[in-house]
Amino acid sequence: MTQDSPQVRSTGDGSPVLDIDGLGVRLPDGQAARPILDGVSLRVLPGETVGLVGESGSGKSVACRSVLGLLPAGARTSGTVRVAGRDVLTMNRTELAALRARQVAMVFQDPRAAVNPLRRVGDFVTEGLRASGLSAAAATTRAEALLDAVGIRDPRGALRRFPHQFSGGMLQRVVIAAALASEPALLVADEPTTALDVTTQAEIIAILTRLRAEQGTGLLFVTHDLELASAICDRVYVMYAGRIVETRGTNELFDRPRHPYTSGLLACTPRIEPGAPTPRPIPGRPVSLAEAPPGCAFAARCAHAQPRCSEETPVLARYGDGLTACHRADEGITL
Ligand SMILES: Nc1ncnc2c1ncn2[C@@H]1O[C@H](COP(=O)(O)OP(=O)(O)OP(=O)(O)O)[C@@H](O)[C@H]1O
Ligand SMILES: [Mg+2]
Repeated sequence: MTQDSPQVRSTGDGSPVLDIDGLGVRLPDGQAARPILDGVSLRVLPGETVGLVGESGSGKSVACRSVLGLLPAGARTSGTVRVAGRDVLTMNRTELAALRARQVAMVFQDPRAAVNPLRRVGDFVTEGLRASGLSAAAATTRAEALLDAVGIRDPRGALRRFPHQFSGGMLQRVVIAAALASEPALLVADEPTTALDVTTQAEIIAILTRLRAEQGTGLLFVTHDLELASAICDRVYVMYAGRIVETRGTNELFDRPRHPYTSGLLACTPRIEPGAPTPRPIPGRPVSLAEAPPGCAFAARCAHAQPRCSEETPVLARYGDGLTACHRADEGITL
C-alpha cells in the first residue's frame, strides 16, 4: 500500500515524517528511575498508516507521547525522536508549541479528556487556526468545513455547542477535526476508537483512512485490536514490555508472524468467519519493562523458550520483509 501512497507532503522528499531511533525512556519512581521504553525504533513515511500493537502497559502511549514532547515531568530519555528531520527530545517550549501547532497532532482514546468542558466546540476547533493567523471569520469558515469533512451535520450549529451536548463518537469527530485543522504531516492516534461503539468506530476509521489518502498524512495508529490493525495499516510494530519485538508489512505479519508473542496475539483474537479456531489466550500476564527479567521479557509466557532465552536479550534481526527479536525466529516456530 505504501507504493501507491498519495503525494508526499511536508518532508517533500519521501523521508520519514516520524523517525524514532533507539528511544529509551525512564520515569522517576521515588529515588530511582523506572525503565519504560528500551531501544524503540519506529518509522512512519508520508501517507503511511503504521500500527503499534501490544498488551496493556507495554509502552505504546508513552511512545506516542514522546512524539509530541508530552512525556511526564522528570522523564529521562536516550535516542532520538525526529519529526520531519528534527529531534523532538531536544526542542524547547517554543519549538514544541510550533511542532504541535503545525506538524503533529494527536487523538486520544477519550475525547472528553481532550476538550475543555466549559468552552464551546467552536473555540476548540478554531484555536489553532486563529493562532496560525487566520481572521475570526476565516477560521470559522474553515472550522465548518472541517466538521463537515468528519461527518458532523449542521457544522455551524455544532460550533456554538458545548462538549456535553455531543455523544462520545461525535465529540471524537470534533477532536479529529481540530487535529486536522493545521494539516499535520503526522497524526498520532492512541486507541481513538476504543471508547466508541462499533458503528461509530467504523465511521471514524473511514474518516482517518480517507484523510491519509486525500492529504498524505502519515498515521501512527495504536490499537489493541489486531483485526483493525490488519484492516487499515501498511505496517505494524508489535511491542512487548517496552521493546519492539517484531515489525513487518501487515500481510506478512498476519500470514507469517515470526515472534511467538505476535502469533500469541493473533491466536487470542476472536474471529467471526465459519470454522475459525477458538481464541486461545496467551498464558500468564504481561510484564512492564521495569519488571522484565533478564533475557527475553516474553520467555516466561512462551511455550518455546529455551535456557538461552532467559539469559540473552534477543535483538531485532531481519527475517522476510521485517524484523523480529527472537532467538528462534529462524525456526518458523509460533505459539
Ligand atoms: N505518567 C506516568 N508516570 C509513571 N509511570 C507511567 C506514566 N505513564 C505510563 N507509565 C508507566 O509506563 C508503562 C507503559 O505505559 P503506557 O501507558 O505507555 O502503556 P500502554 O501500552 O499504552 O498500555 P494501555 O494499552 O493500557 O494503554 C506502564 O508501566 C505505566 O505504568
Ligand atoms: Mg495506552
